[in-house]
Amino acid sequence: MSITVYVPRDASALSLGADAVAKAIEAEAACRNLDVRIVRNGSRGVYWLEPMVEVETPAGRVAYGPVQPTDVMGLFDADFLHGGVDVLNLGLTDEIPWLKSQQRLTFARVGVVDPRNLDDYLAHDGYRGLAAALKMEPSAIVQAVTDSGLRGRGGAAFPAGIKWKTCMDAAADQKYIVCNADEGDSGTFSDRMIMEGDPFVLIEGMTIAGLAVGATRGYIYLRIEYPHAQRALEAAIEAATARGYLGDNVCGSGKAFHLEVRMAAGAYICGEETSLLESLEGKRGQVRFKPPLPAIQGLFGKPTVINNVITLATVPVILDRGAAFYRDYGMGKSRGTLPLQLAGNVKRPGLVERAFGLTLRELIEQYGGGTASGRPVRAVQVGGPLGAYIPASQLDTPIDYEAFAAIGGMVGHGGVVVFDDTVDMAAQARFAMEFCAIESCGKCTPCRIGSTRGVEVIDRIVAGDAAEKARNEAVLRDLCQTMVAGSLCALGGMAPFPVLSALEHFHEDFEGAGQSAAS
Ligand SMILES: Cc1cc2nc3c(=O)[nH]c(=O)nc-3n(C[C@H](O)[C@H](O)[C@H](O)COP(=O)(O)O)c2cc1C
Ligand code: SF4
Repeated sequence: MSITVYVPRDASALSLGADAVAKAIEAEAACRNLDVRIVRNGSRGVYWLEPMVEVETPAGRVAYGPVQPTDVMGLFDADFLHGGVDVLNLGLTDEIPWLKSQQRLTFARVGVVDPRNLDDYLAHDGYRGLAAALKMEPSAIVQAVTDSGLRGRGGAAFPAGIKWKTCMDAAADQKYIVCNADEGDSGTFSDRMIMEGDPFVLIEGMTIAGLAVGATRGYIYLRIEYPHAQRALEAAIEAATARGYLGDNVCGSGKAFHLEVRMAAGAYICGEETSLLESLEGKRGQVRFKPPLPAIQGLFGKPTVINNVITLATVPVILDRGAAFYRDYGMGKSRGTLPLQLAGNVKRPGLVERAFGLTLRELIEQYGGGTASGRPVRAVQVGGPLGAYIPASQLDTPIDYEAFAAIGGMVGHGGVVVFDDTVDMAAQARFAMEFCAIESCGKCTPCRIGSTRGVEVIDRIVAGDAAEKARNEAVLRDLCQTMVAGSLCALGGMAPFPVLSALEHFHEDFEGAGQSAAS
C-alpha cells in the first residue's frame, strides 16, 4: 500500500530546498522499491523547521525537520515511512506545542491539504460556507459577516460587513469583488501562505462576497513577486470552474461568479485600494480622491468590494460555523483570530494564528523563542513600514486594534518585526522616511516633498551639534505633523509614525555621532 509523504511547495520551504528534498525522497523510494505518494502541501508556517516533511501513519502525521536532501537516506534507514525515530523526528505534527497552542480558523487547512486538489478541500470542510450562503438571502449573508465582528485584515481594520452593505445597497448593472493580494508590508506573508497553501478558501470567500453584494466578477490583484501563488490560484480557479463552483451557474444556483488573477505593478502604493483600482484598470497606480468610496464607485466606476486576502479567506468559516462562533474569539472590538507573522530577529519565525488579546511579549517569547541573536529585544515594528516602533517596555500590550492605537501603534496586517539592542533607531527612522520618499505616488505635496525633506532633516539631526539637533528636531516634528494632517492617503499620513516613535522612545540614538564630534 502506498505511503503518503508531504513536502511543502510553499515559497519559503522552496527557498530552503524543499524541491530537492522531494526529489531525493522520490529517488530513494524508487531505489528501495517502495510505494510512496508525495503530496506537495502548503507550509504549516513553522518556518524554522522548514523544509518540514510529514508522513501519514495510522497514529496521525509524523513530522521531520528541517530536512535536507542529504538527510533523506538516513530517514529511510530509520524507517521514517512508519514514523521511525530519527534525530529529525518531531513527533506527531498536531502535538508540536508551537502548533497545538494556536487557534487556526482561517489557516485550518494550510499545510494540511493538497492545495491543487478540490476533493481534498471538500474532504476538509471546504465549500461548506458557500453551501450555507446559497441558502441565505444576500442581506442575511451581509448580516452574518457584520455580526461576526470581522474587520479588514489589510491594514485599516474597517468592518467588513459595513463595506459589504454599502456595496449591496448600491444599484448597478455590474458590481465587482476585488481581492487585495498585493501584500506589500514588511515582514508579512500570511496572504501568500493562504494562496499557496489553501487557494480554494479564498475563492470560496470571494464567491460568497459576490453572492452577498450581487457581484458577478472578481479579480485577485496579486503581488508580482508571488509566482507560486499565481500558479496555485490559477490551478484552483480552473478546478473550481470545471466543477461548477465558479462560472455562470455557481453550484446550480443560477447565479454567476467569474474569477481572474491579475499580476500587480510592483509598487507599494498599488496596495492602497484606490491606486490598486487604477492599476487594475491598466493605468499608473496613483491614489484617487475619496469620496466616492469604491463600494459605490470602484472598478470601472462600478460598486466594488475590495478586501484583503485574509478578510475574504475568513468568510467561509464564519458562514459555516456561524457569526457567534467567530465572534466568541478575541477581545473588545477586535473579534476573531489574527494570523500573526513573526519575523525579523527571532529564533522561531513563522505564522501564529491566535485570538486577539495575546500580548506581544507572549508572541515573541513563547512562539518566537526570543531573539535569534540571543540579545535583548529593543524594538518591535508591528503593522508594516508605517507602523510605530514599540519599545520593550510596551511588550505587554495585548494585540488588539484599540490597545495598539492607545500606544500610538497599529496592528495593520499583523506583521511583527523584532529588533535586538544593536539596532540603530535613528537609521530606522531615516529608513521609514526614505521608504515613503521612494514609494510616494507623487499626487500630494506633503508626502512627495515632505518625505524627501524628512530624510535630509534626519541626516542633519544625526550629524549636527547639540543646538542644531534641537532646531532640526523641531523642524522634523513640524514636518511630521504637516504630513499626518495634509497627506491624501495613509502612506504620507502614517510614515511619520515610525519616525516620531523612534524620537520618543529611542531619543539617545539621535544624539550619537554629531554630539561626540562636537564635544
Ligand atoms: C500605502 C498603502 C498600502 C497598502 N497595501 C495593502 C496591501 O498590500 N494589502 C492590503 O490588503 N491592503 C493594503 N492597504 C490597505 C488598503 O488600502 C485597503 O484598506 C484594504 O485593501 C481593504 O481591505 P480590508 O478591509 O479587507 O483590509 C494599503 C494601504 C495603504 C495606504
Ligand atoms: S500621501 Fe503620498 S502616496 Fe498617498 S496620495 Fe499623497 S503622494 Fe500619493
